[in-house]
This record gives sequence, C-alpha cells and structure tokens, in this order.
Amino acid sequence: MSSLVTSETIRDVAVITVDNPPVNALSPEVQTKLEALVDAALAAPAIRGLVLAGANNTFIAGVDIKELQKLAQRKPTLLKELHPLLNRLEASTKPVVCALSGVTLGGGLELALACHYRMASPSARVGLPEVKLGLIPGAGGTQRLPRLIGLVAAAELCATGQQIDATAAQQAGLVDELVTGELRAAAIDQALKMAASGQPPRQTSATQDRLGTLAEHTEALSKLRARMARQGRGASAPLKAIEAVEASATLSFPDGLRREADLFRACLQSSESAASMHVFFGERTVAKIPGLPQETQTYTLRQAAVIGAGTMGGGIVMTCLDAGIPVVLKEIDSARLERGLDVIRRNYAEAVKKGRLTDGQMQQRLALLEPTTSYEQIGKAEIVIEAVFENMALKKQVFREIDAAAAPDAILASNTSTLDIDALAAETRRPERVIGNHFFSPANLMRLLEIVRGRKTSHEVIATCMALARRLRKIGVLVGNCHGFVGNRMFGPFLREAQYLAEEGASITEIDETLVQFGMAMGVFTVEDLAGIDVGWRVRQENPHWLPEGYRKYRAADRLAEMGRHGQKTGAGWYRYEPGRRTPIPDPRVEEIIAQCATAGGIVRRKVPPQEILDRMMYALVNEGARILEDGIALRAVDIDIIYVNGYGFPAHRGGPMFYADTLGLPKVLERIQEFERQHGFWWKPAPLLEQLAKAGRKFCDMEAKHG
Ligand code: COA
Repeated sequence: MSSLVTSETIRDVAVITVDNPPVNALSPEVQTKLEALVDAALAAPAIRGLVLAGANNTFIAGVDIKELQKLAQRKPTLLKELHPLLNRLEASTKPVVCALSGVTLGGGLELALACHYRMASPSARVGLPEVKLGLIPGAGGTQRLPRLIGLVAAAELCATGQQIDATAAQQAGLVDELVTGELRAAAIDQALKMAASGQPPRQTSATQDRLGTLAEHTEALSKLRARMARQGRGASAPLKAIEAVEASATLSFPDGLRREADLFRACLQSSESAASMHVFFGERTVAKIPGLPQETQTYTLRQAAVIGAGTMGGGIVMTCLDAGIPVVLKEIDSARLERGLDVIRRNYAEAVKKGRLTDGQMQQRLALLEPTTSYEQIGKAEIVIEAVFENMALKKQVFREIDAAAAPDAILASNTSTLDIDALAAETRRPERVIGNHFFSPANLMRLLEIVRGRKTSHEVIATCMALARRLRKIGVLVGNCHGFVGNRMFGPFLREAQYLAEEGASITEIDETLVQFGMAMGVFTVEDLAGIDVGWRVRQENPHWLPEGYRKYRAADRLAEMGRHGQKTGAGWYRYEPGRRTPIPDPRVEEIIAQCATAGGIVRRKVPPQEILDRMMYALVNEGARILEDGIALRAVDIDIIYVNGYGFPAHRGGPMFYADTLGLPKVLERIQEFERQHGFWWKPAPLLEQLAKAGRKFCDMEAKHG
C-alpha cells in the first residue's frame, strides 16, 4: 500500500512526492494529504523552499477521473477544488519548484503551472487532455497557461488536448529547464538558488508579457475555432476551452478563473462529458476479460507472417513493422508480391515526406520485412495472419496450407471481417490455436482490432492476441463468432436502413449529412464509396439468399455496381469524383437510379424528415447491438461502444451506440422501434433484451458482463 504523498526534508528543502500508482492521479485522499504536507512545509520556519515531484516515473496524470465521473453523474464525491492549494503555492514567498518526469497531465499540469519554476526530464510529456473527457481544464489551466506560452499556443493545447514533449514545452516557455541528470537533486539546487537570491518568486498569474491582446490574435483563434468545429464533429468542449483561454486576455485573473469555472460546470453537466468518460474507461475495460484468469500465460511473439499483400495485408504488415515485429510477407506470385511491396514502400516514403518518420526509421522498418512467394519461410513465425480475399473456399484452402507449413505451436489468425472462425479452425489440426484478428482499413492507422474467439480457441491464444493488440498500439476487443462479429453484424442493418431511406425519398446527401451532423466521421454512402460498392455486390452474387426471407429488397447498390460505379476507385459510386480528387459530388444520375428502383419496388416516395433518418440509422445499430449482447457475442455494452467509436467513426462524445441509447432512455428508444416495426416491417422487431431493460428501467451499460 503506497503512502500516497510523502514529504522529506533535504538540505532545508521540503521534497513532497506524490506516490499513487499507477499514474499518481489526484484522488481526494491524495489532495488532502498533499495539502497538509504543503501547508506544513510553508509554515515550517526551517524550510527554505519546496520541490514537488512524483514517484512511479511520472509526475501526476491529473485529477482522478473516477471522481470526475461521479461529479458528471451527479454522484457524491470528496473531490475538492484545487484552487485554494494552487493559490497558496503560487502566493508562497518560499520558492516552489516542480520536477516533471513521465507524464504531467490535466490537474497535474495545472498544479505545475502554479509553481514558480518547472524543471523536466527530457522524456517528460505534458498536456491538458480534459477535452478528451468532454471537459476543459478547471483549476486555472486556461488562465495560467496563456500567461506563460501565449494565447494562441495555449488555446491550441487546451482545445486539442494534445501532449507535447519536454523540448517543445521548454521552447514554448511552459518548462523553464530540461535536466538530463538527476532531476530531484537539480530541483533542490534550484529551490535553494531561488531562496538565496532574495527575489520574490515569479507568480504565473501575475505574468502578462506573453499574453498579448485578443485583437492581435483574432485571426489565428478563429482559424483554430473553425478547425476544432470540424475535427470535433459537434463536440462542444474544444470550443469552450478556446473561450476560456480567450478570457485570460480580456478579464482579470480572478474573473478569468470565474469564467473558466462557469464553462467547466457547463461541460460537466453536458452528456458529452459523461459519454467521453465512458469511452475513456471503456477503452481500458475491454482489456479485462471475465472468465480469463489473470495469470493466463501469453506466448512470446518474435516473428509474424502475413499471407496476402493486398490492401489489408499491406496495412497489417506496416502495423507489425511499426511495432518492431519482423514479418514474412507471402503472396502467390511475384507480380502480386511486388505490387504489395510497392504500396508499403510508397506509404512509408510518404510518411517520411510528411516528416512523420525519418529516413532511418523507414529503413529500419523495411529491414524487418521478408517478402516471399513460398510457404517455407512462414515456419519460423509464431503467429501467421491470413489476409486473403474474403471468400470462404479460398480462406479454407489457405488455412489448410498454413496449417501444414507453420510451426506446430504457431497461432493462426484470420483477418476475416465476417466469416466463421470455427469453419476455418476445422480445416486445421490446431483449432485451439485459431483465432480471428479483424483489422480495420487502413490497418496501420485504425485503432480497433476485433479479436474473434472460436469455440475451441484457448485462453492463452486469446491473452496473447490481446497483448499483441497493445503492442501494436491498438485497442483489442474480444468478440464471439457469428456472421460479421460485432462491428459488421451491426453495420448490416445500418446499411440496410440507409438504402431503404434512400428509396423512400431521402437523398444520399441528406442521409450522409444527417450522420455527419450527428458526429459520425463520414456518411454511410461515402464509406461505401471508399470501401468499394463491388465488394458487397460480389458477396450478394455469391449468395442469392443474402437477405433473409420476407425483407424488402433494395437494388440500387447492385445497379451501380453493374454499371461499373464501384466507388472512389472508379471515379463514381454513390457520388461522383473529379479525377484525382476524393471529394464526393452529388450525382443526379444516382438519384434517378434510386427513384427507378423505388418505382420498381412499388415504394411511394416522400420527404423524409432528418430526425427520422437519424433515428432509423441509430436504432438499427442499437437493436442489433442488443441482440449481440443477448447472444453473448459482445461481453458488455461498452465493448460494442468501443468498437463503434474506434472502428466505425462513431463520435466519442456520444459514447457509442449503446451509451447513446442509454442517454436517450431505453423506453423512448423502444417506443420508436415499435413504431418502425408497425410502419415498415418485422425486421424492426425489438430485441427482447431491449424490451426487458426498458421495462425494468435499466440501461445497457449497467448490465453485468457475460462470461466467455
Ligand atoms: N484518474 C484515474 N485513473 C487514471 C487516470 C486518472 N487521471 N489516468 C489513468 N488512470 C488509470 C487508468 O484508468 C488505468 O486503470 P486500470 O489499470 O484500472 O485500467 C491505469 O490508470 C493505467 O492507465 P493506462 O491508460 O492503461 O496506462 P498508460 O500507461 O497507457 O497511459 C496515461 C497512462 C496517464 C497517459 C493515460 O492513462 C491517460 O492519458 N490518462 C488520462 C489523463 C487525463 O485525462 N487527465 C486529465 C484528468 S484532469
């Protein structure tokens, strides 16, 4: 049990160390103890200065978010305002130096800003990530930071929530000094030096020279606002953060703090903060798998092999290389292999051109890649990831081949996005070592990895793939085996409703704009154009019974595919595209085709209100999500939310589809779904789980996890 905060006197300096593993969060207990020890040091005549530091190789990662969550949910918390402590530190005549190592975030940085001098180790990182929790800094950060680094730089940090490294922080004026040697000793020296100078310590709140006036920065701030409005996709916290920072230039420090407090409260009371905190904890909860003992052994993965150098295979290869994992890349012939390699090389060269990678880093990555057209080399891999075309017969054949060629204890993973993992496992002599690793395109950039457990997949293989996800800097979510797993199974009804709505009279643009207004990263038809309309068309061609009995048929997508309108890659799909451009342009020809399909299907077209578009799109997700929970395909509602936020562009500030439904109230959602069932057909039958929860006044996110 850690002592939370300790104080020791070294050469007349009180060194106060926060020790609340893992990240030294400022819990109510830490706050109380810190305050008591600071007050004691300030009052002790023999103490000439203070040093604030953190144990666990980090300073302070902010106020305890669990307590903030209670505040957001209006539950009681013992969390205290940080202002009194910060004001006392700042007003102290004894110098207060803080020693920043590891991360210094949120309330931790606000504490540092109130100190008189900030020293950091070169590997330290700092930031005010509150916007990612739907909040703004609430302990003076928006008022002190601009006084140190200027209005625009502070607005940028507060609005984006981005972390910067110690060098950038020093260049900006946030950190006073970088220390390559022993940080704590250097901080003690600095405190003594400042005490000996006889000068009163500099107070950040009284510093004005970097601040400037609002008028001087109007243009830069309005550009930032426009960027945040676009990137934030409807999130209000980034805009409120800019507003609070602006107040530092127009109001006195105390009035600025009051303005910050008002804006902070408004954020806290919004559903945005509750949703964002749900996502923060959710992204960590998904790593915890009920029924998987903590001590489960994981296998060491030193070498991977990827089968197939297409778009997905190439992206998976880059993901592994980026994480320092050597990869054997196998294709069936050298022409395909060369094409795939060329894309990988070009992508890396582009990253170098954009300054995201150095030439040396690119060379290091490429040196880990071993291309081949023979199965022989995969024998040394501890994991083989199959990424061939989405076709069951082909995948079965590949699984037989890799089972024969791979080491007997290697894990065989399929990157299938829909197909039955058990059917693939049955082709091998090691079903317990077969698993789905469903990456999302572009695989090297998207954070989600759906990890699909088959009936026989062993605990060790699951734990190894969850650990691999972390190593690849992805969020691994364990799901069960069914057609489309979680993400794509829900995407089916979502896409179906979009097509029904289009036939009923909503334009492609109206549907997409409604989704973008809601905060989705892209409209559904834009996504389809990106993915390729021919993909679904081919699946439907292979399976004439793709739509269950009795469902209303929709044909426009097939018509487009048959006309060669396969999406962006052919310059036309649901939209048209100028050569070399990616901007979707509405195409009256498409609306004509949809109208013809509607007439052929006997559909009377009408003006569809935006609210109906939104409700049908969202509730199609929610109803299928409820069935997925019933079936035990997702462990918890939050797993579905994390999949949708990280793999399908669902806005984090709405918490994911299941949290969104909870926010609206399940009785309301149920009522609307029942209405759709009456109006449109049996495919809107409410999921029994939704009915039960709505009746019981419960929520999806309150449910217990299902054990696998
Ligand atoms: N309050 C409470 N708990 C916190 C926390 C905070 N400010 N920051 C992190 N944690 C918890 C996490 O929930 C996790 O708990 P778990 O192990 O029970 O799941 C644990 O600390 C480790 O965090 P994790 O994110 O898994 O570790 P990491 O090393 O990848 O990242 C951080 C560490 C600090 C960079 C990251 O956790 C982070 O960004 N935290 C948020 C900081 C923040 O927003 N602060 C502003 C609040 S004012």
